[in-house]
Amino acid sequence: MYEANTIIKDLRVLTEHFIPRRIIHRTGQLEVLRDNLKPLVNEEIPRSSFLHGPPGTGKTCMSQYIVDELKAHTPVLSAYINCWSYPSRFKILFNILQSLGHNFINRKGTPTDELIDTLKNKIKNRPCIIVLDEADQLEDEKILYDLLEIEKVCIILIANTETLFATIDPRIRSRLQSIDRIEFRPYSTREIFDILKDRADLGLVNDAISAEQLTKIADLSGGDARIALNILRIAAEEAEKKDAEKVSDSHIERAAPKTKNLEADRLLESLNTHQKILYGIVKSSKEISSSDLHEKYLSTCAEKNIEPIVDRTVRKYLERLEAFKLVASSGEGRWTIFKISS
Ligand SMILES: Nc1ncnc2c1ncn2[C@@H]1O[C@H](COP(=O)(O)OP(=O)(O)OP(=O)(O)O)[C@@H](O)[C@H]1O
Ligand SMILES: [Mg+2]
Repeated sequence: MYEANTIIKDLRVLTEHFIPRRIIHRTGQLEVLRDNLKPLVNEEIPRSSFLHGPPGTGKTCMSQYIVDELKAHTPVLSAYINCWSYPSRFKILFNILQSLGHNFINRKGTPTDELIDTLKNKIKNRPCIIVLDEADQLEDEKILYDLLEIEKVCIILIANTETLFATIDPRIRSRLQSIDRIEFRPYSTREIFDILKDRADLGLVNDAISAEQLTKIADLSGGDARIALNILRIAAEEAEKKDAEKVSDSHIERAAPKTKNLEADRLLESLNTHQKILYGIVKSSKEISSSDLHEKYLSTCAEKNIEPIVDRTVRKYLERLEAFKLVASSGEGRWTIFKISS
């Protein structure tokens, strides 16, 4: 017999990709972003924005919210690119064009500069917002120059560090001077509580969790809304599975450490094909030297009939896997040994 859920009313609301119906405690940032985009409505030139701050502070969520809001009133084009998955200039342009509904006839041979012309034609002077998320992962900042050169294109750049432009080519930096920097600080416990309360009201059955318990989750989250929402979801799922009437403190305590694995899974999911191959090789060997890894990478590409990327990019990808603590290394140069991060 079907039994009604005792804890979860709507699981979707508790997942990371759900765009909340309202964004709380970010009124200042939202207003600035709205002001920067407002000229688009009057067919004037908008101002690009740079959202920066630590993980789980609402940057991605706000960019999606604002694009949806604008599209509800104005016929603007938009594209969202995660630069961790698509770090190269070619891939970014290719994906923007795909998001704008362009059909590629001959994808492989297209030179990057041709893609820029195609993009200009596709946009045809219409207003267009391009969100470049995880912009710390950009391989070639020239893409910013390319995009900012196109009339009526407005960029929303997102990164964890504010120093993104420190080492950038001066020509590109001067283009970026007018970009509006918008800071996202970690949330306070009280702010996280309010975000959680909103979701619990929508996603959980009435009284399934108490205010004290939401505060407990907020305390455990360290100001990161993603961690907070994940703890809430895992604790609620656990309570539901155990047929409990309410979420208990022990469900919350057991859920908290599990969010760490989720973070690794999230990063793994966002890897591109080559990063996945490299990660897979390191994972299947206890330890592997840099040269063996390169060799295995080439043979895997041959097996899968994939064009391998150049050595320099392989090194960059490995540095990234390390920066995200998916892979660890010791030694230097040819003697570097890679293994999975513990
Ligand atoms: N102010 C807010 N109101 C409602 N929900 C929020 C708010 N801030 C964040 N969230 C939710 O918290 C989760 C994490 O937010 P988001 O993905 O935007 O973080 P981020 O700043 O992009 O982090 P990262 O730098 O790790 O990518 C999302 O599910 C989002 O919906
Ligand atoms: Mg984000």
